[in-house]
Amino acid sequence: MDTTSSLIADDIHAYLKAQETKSLLRFITCGSVDDGKSTLIGRLLWDSKLIFEDQLSALEEDSKRAGTQGSEIDFALLLDGLQAEREQGITIDVAYRYFSTDLRKFIVADTPGHEQYTRNMATGASTADVAVILVDARKGVLTQTRRHSHIVSLMGIRHVLLAVNKMDLVDYSQERYDAIVRDYRAFSKQLGFNDVVCVPISALKGDNVLEISPRMHWHHGPTLMGYLSTVEVAEEASSKPFRMPVQWVNRPNLDFRGFCGTIESGSVSVGDDVIVTASGFTSKVARIVTYDGDLESASAGEAVTLTLENEIDVSRGDLLAAIDARPTHADQFEGKLIWMHTDPLLPGRKYILKIGAQSASAQVTDLKNKVNVNTLEKQAGKTLELNEVGVCNFAVDHPISFDPYAENRGTGRFILIDRLTNATVAAGMIDFALRRATNIHWQALDINKQQRANAKGQVPCVLWFTGLSGSGKSTIANLVERRLAALGKHTYILDGDNVRHGLNKDLGFTDADRVENIRRVAETAKLFVDAGLITFVSFISPFRSERQMARELLDRGEFLEVFIDTPLAVCEQRDIKGLYAKARRGELKNFTGIDSPYEPPKSPEIRIDGGEGSAEQAAQRIVDQLEKLGVLSTSNIEE
Ligand code: ADX
Repeated sequence: MDTTSSLIADDIHAYLKAQETKSLLRFITCGSVDDGKSTLIGRLLWDSKLIFEDQLSALEEDSKRAGTQGSEIDFALLLDGLQAEREQGITIDVAYRYFSTDLRKFIVADTPGHEQYTRNMATGASTADVAVILVDARKGVLTQTRRHSHIVSLMGIRHVLLAVNKMDLVDYSQERYDAIVRDYRAFSKQLGFNDVVCVPISALKGDNVLEISPRMHWHHGPTLMGYLSTVEVAEEASSKPFRMPVQWVNRPNLDFRGFCGTIESGSVSVGDDVIVTASGFTSKVARIVTYDGDLESASAGEAVTLTLENEIDVSRGDLLAAIDARPTHADQFEGKLIWMHTDPLLPGRKYILKIGAQSASAQVTDLKNKVNVNTLEKQAGKTLELNEVGVCNFAVDHPISFDPYAENRGTGRFILIDRLTNATVAAGMIDFALRRATNIHWQALDINKQQRANAKGQVPCVLWFTGLSGSGKSTIANLVERRLAALGKHTYILDGDNVRHGLNKDLGFTDADRVENIRRVAETAKLFVDAGLITFVSFISPFRSERQMARELLDRGEFLEVFIDTPLAVCEQRDIKGLYAKARRGELKNFTGIDSPYEPPKSPEIRIDGGEGSAEQAAQRIVDQLEKLGVLSTSNIEE
């Protein structure tokens, strides 16, 4: 089948028009190099005449030099763009390839199949509508076939094509093919696919790829390309309720206010009722403006500017939705995470969550279980490492609008970003909202923070002492508290060693436990400030991210970071508790400064060189600084 359109030569305008109106199918190929995945994609590009002449002669050259097919062309080489990869015989990234036939346009995501590339496969699968899962006819359904199918199902793909490849190597045996198909159908029942279509192929010889193979008359189904050309997916997105994240508010003059974005799902027509999901404001669509003029209606995938009949408040990040099929609006939900970074997930840590055009600060409040991607079994775990999948509960700092991922992939998927490094650390899929906390409301109390502070004649705040173990935090904090007490101030010290005997006695010293340790003490410190106390926190608190979280919990000016900057060598030499010696002997794991990190503050309010002078002098310097900062002045806040 020659799919190169002769229109290119005859009528380029007609050709371009046809291109524009052709539907687009995104699919992912899953399998390893051994299954013949690269060969298959190479074959698709080759047979679709999508290889340029210069690539062709290079390919012939390379096939002779590095190929695995003797003097024949090795299609796999087409795919391995990078020389280094080619030489090592592996493909490591997600490569997106575009090709088109007379019937359809295609984007194929090609990802490596090994377990250490789970995140790459998840990325590729997240935008694909169809998965082509390759198995080697000689080997049948393997652990990796199951893993690929699980990931594909997890990422919400509902159409699967099982390509039983290398049929040439099993003498085109129908019996062998049927056995594999039976196996796969039995296994895949639990995965929630809408359809699984099976095709026996030989990517190398071209059997049932584009052309029906004369060697397998017993196969009555489609060819691989026949299926990809006809499988219906496009209307799925447009048949869903209308959703459009507002990317930008266009207000060139006082007479025009348009909300720009790409329609994520459903369709919208002039006169439709829409709701701004966060505020609950409603209006009717007045115009659908595009670069090429106004439209009567538009649907999923189209980039448009909507104007509304009334002047309601809509901003960037809002979600516009159909009034009769609103998304969920909640600040807690359960969902799945695929961890994508070498730094593991730390439940309790705040991450930036981005969903559509919305962003919020979010934390995993509970890692309910990890999921073994090979078997789908649940496993207990406290953290997620690179490529691991987990089911988690999430809390967000303000309600966000979403749909369950199973119902709407566009409005149900999110990413997590590290707040300090800006790295994308995870991809997530929302399962459902947790409504638990929505029954809890703030209880109004008659006496407030100012009144409690005024009664004590002081300005409450947190003095957050951070530094290595043995840096002198607790000693110095104790001396400062004595001085403040002598001045008649009301104080309290939350000390790491002490709090770990009670409130935090269930926590150890893993990164995840330290994050939770600091989360709890920060919340406690906030309550103490609310009680009107000058509150000392003396915890190693090794991570910037959690100290920042504590700062943000408090009002402006209430959080003063006091960095007791004592060199590790000095702390180790002091070794009052003998813990450094133990850690050096390997008897104490995860010891800060030895085999667990300490991230020094970048701009603390107060920095004390703990290696110089006495603790008394350090305490005096802190009191002097507090005076300068106005912390010791008598409260004069109006009620
Ligand atoms: S934090 O890192 O989570 O903030 P925290 O201040 O509560 O630590 O507790 C630190 C104290 O626990 C240290 O002063 C030390 O006495 C003790 N400790 C025991 N094991 C460790 C360890 N592995 N790392 C650091 N401190 C430890």
